[in-house]
Amino acid sequence: MAKVIKEEVKDIAKQFQHYPGLAALVTAHAKGKDNVMAVAWHTPLSASPPLYGITIAPKRFTYQLISESKEFAINFLPFEVAELVAAVGGCSGSEVDKFQKFNIAKDRSVKTAAPILKAAYAAYECQLVDDREYGDHRFLVGRIVAVHWLKEVFTAEGQLDMNKVNPILYLGSDVYLTTSKDTVRLLDREVYSKGI
Ligand SMILES: Cc1cc2nc3c(=O)[nH]c(=O)nc-3n(C[C@H](O)[C@H](O)[C@H](O)COP(=O)(O)O)c2cc1C
Repeated sequence: MAKVIKEEVKDIAKQFQHYPGLAALVTAHAKGKDNVMAVAWHTPLSASPPLYGITIAPKRFTYQLISESKEFAINFLPFEVAELVAAVGGCSGSEVDKFQKFNIAKDRSVKTAAPILKAAYAAYECQLVDDREYGDHRFLVGRIVAVHWLKEVFTAEGQLDMNKVNPILYLGSDVYLTTSKDTVRLLDREVYSKGI
């Protein structure tokens, strides 16, 4: 089977449906308001210092709150609440209080004013250290200043236990999926780098 090749690449929004990514919720607080939005474009950047990056269009209400407060939190949720991702990713905090509308429970944040979601199995509070324009989005880098996690759903080694939580994966165009514990494989790189 031959691959299709596109050489004039102007807009690759559709190509981002080529692989699933982790859907997460970014929260922020400013102007006396809490807000939450869905993100699929986000990534860890550095272990030490601990840095996390999120890609947000400047028209998002969340962007206004983060630019003002210089803080945000990223929340990771189980697949059971995937509808919440679609809900908060489908309306703007400039028009509606999403916490009230969707009855979203909060946990106490400790280092920032960004709300932590009770439904999150892990969340990072971040202080903004960089904010740059990349095309139609901005890339915001946060220094992780506090980590919250539900100990019961992680293994003794600190890894997410797939017997207890399956994360929310997003394939684009409103399609969500998750992992299955039956596909978990431990592949020792020392062993496999010698030959497969
Ligand atoms: C699954 C999903 C992933 C999304 N990922 C992003 C993203 O990475 N960056 C972004 O700017 N918007 C993303 N969005 C869109 C925002 O979440 C959406 O526009 C939201 O309504 C913005 O809310 P706000 O105006 O209250 O900030 C995503 C939406 C969904 C449903």
